[in-house]
Amino acid sequence: MALVSAKEILVNAREGHYAVPAININNLEWTKAILTTAQALNSPILLGVSEGAVKYMTGFDAVVGMVSGMMKSLNITVPVALHLDHGSFEGAKAAIAAGFTSVMYDGSHLPFDENIAETKEIVALAHANGISVEAEVGSIGGEEDGIIGTGELADIQECVGMTATGIDFLAAGIGNIHGQYPANWAGLSFETLQEISEATGGIPLVLHGGTGIPAEQITKAIDLGVAKINVNTELQLAFAAATRAFIESGKDLEGKNYDPRKLLASGYDAMVEAVKTKIEMFGSANKA
Ligand code: 13P
Repeated sequence: MALVSAKEILVNAREGHYAVPAININNLEWTKAILTTAQALNSPILLGVSEGAVKYMTGFDAVVGMVSGMMKSLNITVPVALHLDHGSFEGAKAAIAAGFTSVMYDGSHLPFDENIAETKEIVALAHANGISVEAEVGSIGGEEDGIIGTGELADIQECVGMTATGIDFLAAGIGNIHGQYPANWAGLSFETLQEISEATGGIPLVLHGGTGIPAEQITKAIDLGVAKINVNTELQLAFAAATRAFIESGKDLEGKNYDPRKLLASGYDAMVEAVKTKIEMFGSANKA
């Protein structure tokens, strides 16, 4: 199946009271682990790609080529959207031109009126090409690819104004942060989420910083309108821990385990487990 826009995937999720994981990819292993697991569990899925990861993988065309080729050779039939994560204005345009099927334009660091104006331009360009758009108000805490936020609660009127630009789904800060949550984290603000949900007319809401949020908070967030949950750090931690264990056990020195296909296998398997856990926790299994 060809890559699809994320609009229908997320409208169905919001209506069906589940959330679809948007998991960041870094390379072939990440992409293969996510696609094969989504297919095995019959779940729709979004592959998130930050601009840093695009650069690492040598450019937008390389990412589109790798993902599209892998969908074909693995015979992936569940709906998959290739989504730019935290895109800049120029990055969003480049992703649209290269064949991404969904983009996040992140103007949350700009004055609100500039964020709105630039979002509108990206919406016009993306929708003319059948591509879905996510935008953000109120920065998400933590650090991702050099973008640093302090973790805030989004302003409700800004959420309403941003939704009116015609975006397909909305990311809004509700106390969530990228990366691992500190021990003294206050948890998600369900009061803010409920207000956003009631004020924005049913648009699918996006929860960034999905790593480490306890299952009961995830369930409550989905009840209140979250339909897309971003996960990045969790796969990195799983891959790194399993790879470290493999090397520390000395197994990398046995036989031909220096072969990258063997050296990286335990890290790969750990990512598959992490993806499974998220799909099951978010309720998207058998929703393809
Ligand atoms: P985590 O790295 O905390 O899972 O957040 C991912 C994310 O929100 C990507 O936009």
